[in-house]
Amino acid sequence: MYMATVTLERPGDTRDAVASRSGWIRSRLRELALLPSRPGLLSLAGGLPAPELIPRRAYAAALRDVLAGDDDALQYGQPYEALREHIVELMRERGVGCEPRQVLLTSGAQQALSLAAQLLMAPGGQVLMEEHVYTGLRQAVLPHRPTILTVRTDLDTGMDVDAVSELLARGARPAFIYAIADTHNPCGVRLGREQRTRLVALARRFGVPVVEDDSYGLLHYDRDTLPALRALEAEWVIHVGTFSKIIAPALRLGWLVLPPRLVREAGILKEAADLECSALTQRAVARLLQRGYGDHLDRIRAGYRGRRDAMLAALGDHFPASTRWTHPPGGFFVWVKLPRQLDCDRVCEEALAEAGVAVVPGSAFAATPGLPAHHLRLSFASCAPDEIRTAVERLGRLLERRLANG
Ligand SMILES: Cc1ncc(COP(=O)(O)O)c(C=O)c1O
Repeated sequence: MYMATVTLERPGDTRDAVASRSGWIRSRLRELALLPSRPGLLSLAGGLPAPELIPRRAYAAALRDVLAGDDDALQYGQPYEALREHIVELMRERGVGCEPRQVLLTSGAQQALSLAAQLLMAPGGQVLMEEHVYTGLRQAVLPHRPTILTVRTDLDTGMDVDAVSELLARGARPAFIYAIADTHNPCGVRLGREQRTRLVALARRFGVPVVEDDSYGLLHYDRDTLPALRALEAEWVIHVGTFSKIIAPALRLGWLVLPPRLVREAGILKEAADLECSALTQRAVARLLQRGYGDHLDRIRAGYRGRRDAMLAALGDHFPASTRWTHPPGGFFVWVKLPRQLDCDRVCEEALAEAGVAVVPGSAFAATPGLPAHHLRLSFASCAPDEIRTAVERLGRLLERRLANG
């Protein structure tokens, strides 16, 4: 078991220093994710949905209908009730029972995370996360000058819940525990059934909320799905969802499912941030969902399943025997563990320059500075299966060469 505590902002750090550290990570990641296409370049870097799986025509039709028939679509307004009802229905697919008034609409999951941090954190407080974490979470907590507590991620069963238990038993009281139980970004792993039960029991026992980031939760590709954490615990789990991955990121529409005691304050924080989500987008998405989304979800799950399977098969065929990788049951990402002698930053630079393949180094996701960096994150979302096979083959050859040269 391994745990670490790091104060992210050291005494004497200026706000600028902190901002530039986080900005560097974010902008480097965004740079890689949004690399302009260059002839022959294959990108496994981004977390961007496949353009052909975005329901562009259906959304355009929904938008047209709303603009033609709804006088409130271009006004200020209250959260659109019909959309909140659809979200309640979507949450049922995740095993979660909730009511529309517990659903707070947000500008994507990113704003949901920021609001959760504002809601729960005091300046300088603790927050508990895994060693490799979605970079946007770091950005959401950074303004609160947190002390970051980290635990490891097991590549089969996810977050090390024993380490969480140990930290809490020793007196740590984080403002919240950040968890991605399903389809982890960056690690492509899911939390085991038993670990889920234990994690929410710890949250309840110690009175520490879990912020469950379920951004990819509806993108599962195998039959044996597990209940979301919020399905197991309603009081101590704050659930984050989004339409970015199942419809389109440009909607900037996500949600929080909150325990009743936090609903009012969260609403006030949302209003202070940007008043409300676009009335037009809310209505257009509700219209789209009203026409039924089961077929759409089946279609995108089948599309991503094919890409995932192509990547896993290619890794088996072309990656050195000394590498290991996760087998994601959903989401967009495979996490590859490299042999210790390979430095992930260097491998990524060489992959771009020599193999024409963009991938993100594991170091970009380090929750705290100075973590050993021997991982790569490969996205199977944006490339077609044959491109994925070519990219993985090129990467495999590069890794074999590096290993052969010692
Ligand atoms: C784990 C995770 N959480 C949150 C987000 C933010 O998503 P949104 O576009 O809904 O703000 C992302 C986006 O990539 C993500 O991967």
